[in-house]
Amino acid sequence: MSGPRQRRPPETETETETETQAGAGRGAAREVDLEALRCEGARRLAAVEAVEPLGERAVAGRAALQAVCDRLHEAVPHYDWVGFYLVWPDDPRVLQLGPFAGAPTEHTRIPFGRGICGQVAERREALWIPDVGAEDNYLACSLETRAEVVVPVMWQGRFVGQLDIDSHVPDPFGLADHELLEGLCRDAAPVVGMLLDAWQTLP
Ligand code: SME
Repeated sequence: MSGPRQRRPPETETETETETQAGAGRGAAREVDLEALRCEGARRLAAVEAVEPLGERAVAGRAALQAVCDRLHEAVPHYDWVGFYLVWPDDPRVLQLGPFAGAPTEHTRIPFGRGICGQVAERREALWIPDVGAEDNYLACSLETRAEVVVPVMWQGRFVGQLDIDSHVPDPFGLADHELLEGLCRDAAPVVGMLLDAWQTLP
């Protein structure tokens, strides 16, 4: 059912296309200063590096990921669920739900390959899904979800986790979302990598 056209990132979208989108989706994205959100998230994530010792840095790292989820969820109208899944080293073919904002989900552990999240874990490339109803391999968190994007977090060549956004708006994601979410995943990478290392290192 799902073809490459549906799954491509919106990086080739033109400004004209963005401007013609109406409603609470891409239109809403323009009303929110996503660049400012990115900067705020980047600052919050970068501050984690200076925290010592490692145990406190891990606590700060988790809090920073939670803060990113909370801000995205409250600031962007078409981000109805925002969460990080992490690859814990003790079960490296399973995604474990980390910090999130939005309704609780039953999908707290997702095997690689299952659902949109599991496919991204296998591919290590983002999936932009404008219509989840057209997907065969999809795990529903909420019946209200219409669209989803999952962006991988890569650290030092390793796939360490991913950022998942669910939207109740059909086909809501545009170029601004792409830049924001890909950027935040790059900013979050050292924090997620540190958390996984701390998990193995700390008593
Ligand atoms: N929809 C995801 C599952 C995670 S929830 O969206 C929070 C999937 O298909 O993998």
